[in-house]
Amino acid sequence: MNAFSPVGFFDSGIGGLCVLDAFRRRLPREDTVYIADTANCPYGNRPAAEIVRLARRHARTLLARGCKMVVVACNTATAAAIDDLRAKWPDVPFVGIEPAVKPAALRSKSGVVGVLATQGTFGGRLYRETCARFAKNTTVLTCVADEFVALVERGETTGARAEAAVRRKIEPLLSAGADVLVLGCTHFPHLKPLIEKVANGRAKVVEPSGAVARQAERLLAERGLLNPSGGTSHVFIDTGGKASAHD
Ligand code: DGL
Repeated sequence: MNAFSPVGFFDSGIGGLCVLDAFRRRLPREDTVYIADTANCPYGNRPAAEIVRLARRHARTLLARGCKMVVVACNTATAAAIDDLRAKWPDVPFVGIEPAVKPAALRSKSGVVGVLATQGTFGGRLYRETCARFAKNTTVLTCVADEFVALVERGETTGARAEAAVRRKIEPLLSAGADVLVLGCTHFPHLKPLIEKVANGRAKVVEPSGAVARQAERLLAERGLLNPSGGTSHVFIDTGGKASAHD
């Protein structure tokens, strides 16, 4: 693997495409390989050991394709498996994603933030530690929003049913005083326009795709692995369908 090698991404489905998009906007000369594990979606309620097994499988596939870095474009998989992946492949840079609790706590004026994520993400050590470190003086409300994952995988990101689902989840957070909503699952930014519509100015919506892209850039630069001339090959692998390559 060298600077010309692609960067690998995986998620339980199409959620992580928002991370891929942020990455490609920031680093347009990088080639990419993205695995959407739709055969095993959702990950949200799976035991951690099972997610570790799936994450290892995706990392192995991406490394076999010569990837120089792996971005775990899934909060749930990061929570369950990032330590394991780093221990198993110590020479490979892995970038994870976690709910943006720190920026949310900094931006909140009411002192109340609402975090939307999966059960797996809330159950992880990373989330607990981040809250303890960066949100000591903030009330952090949690909301498991698994229905959003199903809506996004079905492509149902507009319409009355999606709006009602969004309203059911975020109204209680807003009523409890949350003025920042954290999208702690990579599927949720696909519903951001609807979430903002329902919030109607009562809360800001934050998600960390841009921060993940910046961290990936930093790690590549540090290792001299930024691609000077790629950006033409973007492979999409759907474990529930068939692989295709596209620009
Ligand atoms: N997109 C994933 C995340 O960021 C998980 C969604 C799921 O499969 O439950 O947490």
